[in-house]
Amino acid sequence: MKKVTVVSPANIAFVKYWGRRDDALILPHNSSVSMNMDSCTTTTSAEWGEFEEDQIMVKYQNKSVEELTGIPREKVIKVADRIRTELGIKQRVKIESENNFPEATGIASSASAFSALTKALYEAAGESLSEKEMTIETRLSGSGSACRSIPRGFVVWNKGQKNDGSDSYAYSIAPPTHWALSDIVCVVDVGNKKVSSAEGHSRAKNPYMDARLIGIEERVKETMAAIEAKDIEKLGRVTEIEALSLHTVCMMSEPPIFYWNNKTFLVMEVVKQIRSQGIPAYYTMDAGANVHVITEQQNEKTVMENLKKVNGVLQTIIAHPGEGARLI
Ligand code: PMV
Repeated sequence: MKKVTVVSPANIAFVKYWGRRDDALILPHNSSVSMNMDSCTTTTSAEWGEFEEDQIMVKYQNKSVEELTGIPREKVIKVADRIRTELGIKQRVKIESENNFPEATGIASSASAFSALTKALYEAAGESLSEKEMTIETRLSGSGSACRSIPRGFVVWNKGQKNDGSDSYAYSIAPPTHWALSDIVCVVDVGNKKVSSAEGHSRAKNPYMDARLIGIEERVKETMAAIEAKDIEKLGRVTEIEALSLHTVCMMSEPPIFYWNNKTFLVMEVVKQIRSQGIPAYYTMDAGANVHVITEQQNEKTVMENLKKVNGVLQTIIAHPGEGARLI
């Protein structure tokens, strides 16, 4: 079989995926909405063949290529095994993967990694799935949010109703060129995530989760409308509420999960100050301490200058709306 290479972006969610109605099929409680991050991508090559064993090589920034081991390897093998069973493939696989952004910066490398991996494994087997099917297969890879990295630009992951998950897929609502938005990632913690998102999803069972789900599909609609109308105030308001809601659920989980650190608060404060000067800028945080600041590209420079001054911001990474997973 042939060797293929896929590049796929990370994505930042405005309405987040947190908690599952079905753990095995990775079915979320709610729909979610995100934007692909053009500057944060994973490039993955895959080849099925008569190799002695599965070989998974990764290249981390400023390091040489190394063999993936432990739990990360098991997760990749699980995806390969599922595809082997589905397509009746007996062969082993050779995978090489590389991120163009630093590891452990709290940028969702699992979304770019698992979307690139899933697409590469199918394409290498000569299976060209439709985009919708590819998002469903990517959802099943374990990182649900990865399914939003397959379509381009601004993306909705429909929660679906069916028990088999056939209507839980992602689709693009606007191309990357639709809206010149910026995501300025303020890195305030380079340590690895203390509690994985997988663990976070399974702990999201408390009355705060029930409260979060009230009106969440309305927030999805509001976010979609804000994107369509390019209404930054509307998008920003929902985005901040969403992040706060997710982190409240985390803090009230059993045992509690605190993803933020004191620098997270500092950045949130500065974002509010920037806004009080009449510049629309809004924060959101995933399962980590780092802050994604959403603003329009016309204000990017000013916002950036303010954020760089914050004591504790170790690094900033700018991303604009990007394409989805693609063969190169
Ligand atoms: O796809 P997972 O299992 O890594 O979960 C992602 C969870 C968040 O990043 C916090 C939210 C989201 O929708 O991206």
